[in-house]
Amino acid sequence: MFETLTRVPVDPILGVSAAFQKDTSETKIDLGVGVYKDEAGKTPVPRAVKRAEQDLIAAQTSKTYLSPIGNPGFNLQVAELTFGSDFGGRKADLALAQAPGGSGALRLGAELINAARPGSTVYVSDPTWANHIPLLGSAGLKVEKYPYYDPINNTVRFEPMLDALEQLAAGSVIVLHACCHNPTGQDLSPEQWAAVADVLARRRLLPFLDMAYQGLGEDLDRDAASIRLMAKAVPEMLVAVSCSKNFGLYRERTGLIAVLNAGHEAASLATGQLGRLARTLWSMPPDHGAAVVDRVLSSPELRQDWMTELRHMANRINSLRTQLADRLTASTGRDFAWVKQQRGMFSRLPLSAEQVVAAREQHHIYMAPDGRINIAGVSPSNVERLAESLAMVMQG
Ligand SMILES: Cc1ncc(COP(=O)(O)O)c(C=O)c1O
Repeated sequence: MFETLTRVPVDPILGVSAAFQKDTSETKIDLGVGVYKDEAGKTPVPRAVKRAEQDLIAAQTSKTYLSPIGNPGFNLQVAELTFGSDFGGRKADLALAQAPGGSGALRLGAELINAARPGSTVYVSDPTWANHIPLLGSAGLKVEKYPYYDPINNTVRFEPMLDALEQLAAGSVIVLHACCHNPTGQDLSPEQWAAVADVLARRRLLPFLDMAYQGLGEDLDRDAASIRLMAKAVPEMLVAVSCSKNFGLYRERTGLIAVLNAGHEAASLATGQLGRLARTLWSMPPDHGAAVVDRVLSSPELRQDWMTELRHMANRINSLRTQLADRLTASTGRDFAWVKQQRGMFSRLPLSAEQVVAAREQHHIYMAPDGRINIAGVSPSNVERLAESLAMVMQG
């Protein structure tokens, strides 16, 4: 039977990682895969997460099933972290379900939309995280794009974006990166968020916010301002939350889908449907990561320690942005100040596919084929060589 299957092309980012592993150069630099790295190039488990894991193992007396919508403590804690301490005054309107990572949350949200309105169209930013398209499309939604990034001026193409949103049919779903846009690092300003919220409310479009990097841009509250503003402006919205990056729980698959409904009755219907859909996908979400996050957020001491470490991660990324921007400007004679304004782990360098290959083959610098770099892969010890090598590639 399986000989009928076709070969899957190598994932471009995983291909970059494999090539990096094989490279024996002592000065190689990995700016490819999207995980946070510390000063030593390692992807750490935060101290508070480690402590919560130890406490959990000591305290847990059973691993019996929980429920298709997961751990209720985790769901509420993470919803509060994103929507704010009063849940925007709309706690009763929320339907919550734990999901395997932000990816599982996106998929479960897409399934819910498809159950409510089969074949709906979902619009994603151009460009967007590559996995948005298969994750949302496999649920049966039609996936289209709206204009977003201007790679010449390294800004948001805001007027074309608003114009496109104005044209969409009521009920269309709009995926927005809540903060730290992947792959560009270019977020909407608070004024632009307000204008987008206004169009979505007026045109009766359904926002689907993807929050994969809360705390890694500015801080936990400012990164979630987009969600809080949107929750005040529209009757219904979805938020997919990932705890992979900010809690360092990548492989534990820890995420939440939060659906804001027009009223308590609708929220109760949506909760039931989320449970039913989860049953058809993975039956129950994995518990470990969610139980750990619940412990970290509900212990004042662990929560404080986690926030301190997260703040350090964001500060490190933003300091590397400044160092890289200044070095690139000095080495190329071109203006790279925009790298400092962008937020989160990624920016996209103005390199052609050939220049990306040249950076790899001639200078042992590895990045995604579209020029996306992981800023956390930069370090004070490699930034000078990196900028000089990239300047050579850009001139060559
Ligand atoms: C924009 C965006 N959304 C969602 C995710 C999903 O993360 P995960 O499924 O690993 O929690 C990622 C991960 O890289 C991402 O970059």
